[in-house]
Amino acid sequence: MAKILVNNNGPLFGEVKISGAKNAVLPLLAATLLTDETCVIEGAPDLVDVEVMKKMLLNYGASIDTSEEGVIKVTAEEIASVEADPEVVQEMRASIFTMGPMLARAGKVVMPMPGGCTIGKRPIDLHLKGFRALGAEIVEEDDKVIVSVGPEGLVGDAIYLDFPSVGATENILMAATLARGTTIIENAAKEPEIIDLANLLNKMGARIKSAGTDMIRIEGVEKLTGCIHGVIPDRIETGTFMLAAAITRGRLLIKNGLPGHVRPIISKLKECGVFVDATPEGILVDATEGELVATDIKTLPYPGFPTDIQSPFMAFLTTVKGESVVRETVFENRFMHVVELNRMGAGITTWNSSEATVPGGKKLRGAKVRATDLRAGAAMVLAGLVADGMTEVSEIYHIERGYENFVGKFKAIGADIMKIDED
Ligand code: UD1
Repeated sequence: MAKILVNNNGPLFGEVKISGAKNAVLPLLAATLLTDETCVIEGAPDLVDVEVMKKMLLNYGASIDTSEEGVIKVTAEEIASVEADPEVVQEMRASIFTMGPMLARAGKVVMPMPGGCTIGKRPIDLHLKGFRALGAEIVEEDDKVIVSVGPEGLVGDAIYLDFPSVGATENILMAATLARGTTIIENAAKEPEIIDLANLLNKMGARIKSAGTDMIRIEGVEKLTGCIHGVIPDRIETGTFMLAAAITRGRLLIKNGLPGHVRPIISKLKECGVFVDATPEGILVDATEGELVATDIKTLPYPGFPTDIQSPFMAFLTTVKGESVVRETVFENRFMHVVELNRMGAGITTWNSSEATVPGGKKLRGAKVRATDLRAGAAMVLAGLVADGMTEVSEIYHIERGYENFVGKFKAIGADIMKIDED
């Protein structure tokens, strides 16, 4: 099993270029199933999750050309199968983003739902509620869900989401593009990735208005066409490198990151005393001067503080002066990294599954820790950058799912970090 070894090498300095967003490119790729013409996705990051999504598309019968670096050309001329491959779905929850496009294009999709750790405790009830409102019939079996629609096709309707789920908004949005009449998604997610998806769909000929607000309106069209579209920069990778500068008390220029997408992270870092400036060259994060102090964070749907930055921010908070409270409100159980940070001497207390107190001011020590999920893995590496002694992070396949050239980018800014392959 591969591991990442990190040693404290002092403050990090230099420039980092942010890659295309994982959470944008996955639904964009799924959306290519909506047309028989070629869609060209530019600026696609090289990630394990992207490979998994490519396998999903191939399995449905699409052909894919990746001869040009960072460019993925998908042509789903014919849908050869409406059944997703259980082994591929096991690898990535975002496989379910293909349900909406398949339902709209082929009228049916069979999605394995093995449950357990495959999709964690994250349900898909809101996705299904949306499909049902558009006229789909849903049969839930032990290990799969079958979603289908009669020959009359999907019909637009108003759908209220009980929670502004990102995935459900995307799935319903994609399905509704080819539905008859008008669909309105109320309490829709407002993440930048939703806007990126709507922009791609509109280029394909869809008629979507107000993506990025909590009420999205979709006028169904008969057919969608091919298009060329560039992926937005990854705001979570942006935040991770902002925190790399902060935790090591270094200075980084983060190129290609969009300040407008990381406002809560900028605000919270400033509250701690970190200098952040959105310059024309990129986001400058400078933590070289002054003492940094504690702040509280609470995760919320966009434009609130992103849940995906909660664990990296918590790693940073262990190093500042004073006590911070971290509240997780998006996911039920997203404190698995606390045990790992505590192995390094962080002394964090969790009061329940959604509230933790970080005492701060700790000198972390290197330890053998696990990347319990993708972002927790990044948090462990950040902690390792400032710990005394070596930190050994295992289960790094999580990190490789969602960060492009993670080790290489850290090396380039002065980190003492390496990946090793062990049997
Ligand atoms: C997406 C992101 C993930 C991010 C999350 C929240 C991708 C590939 N992943 O995940 O990185 O952490 O948004 O910003 O884009 N829920 C339900 N029923 C549903 C769907 C969701 O109850 O049908 C709940 C979930 O259990 C969770 C909350 O809604 O508590 C948010 O989930 P959601 O916004 O759907 O996250 P994902 O789309 O899975």
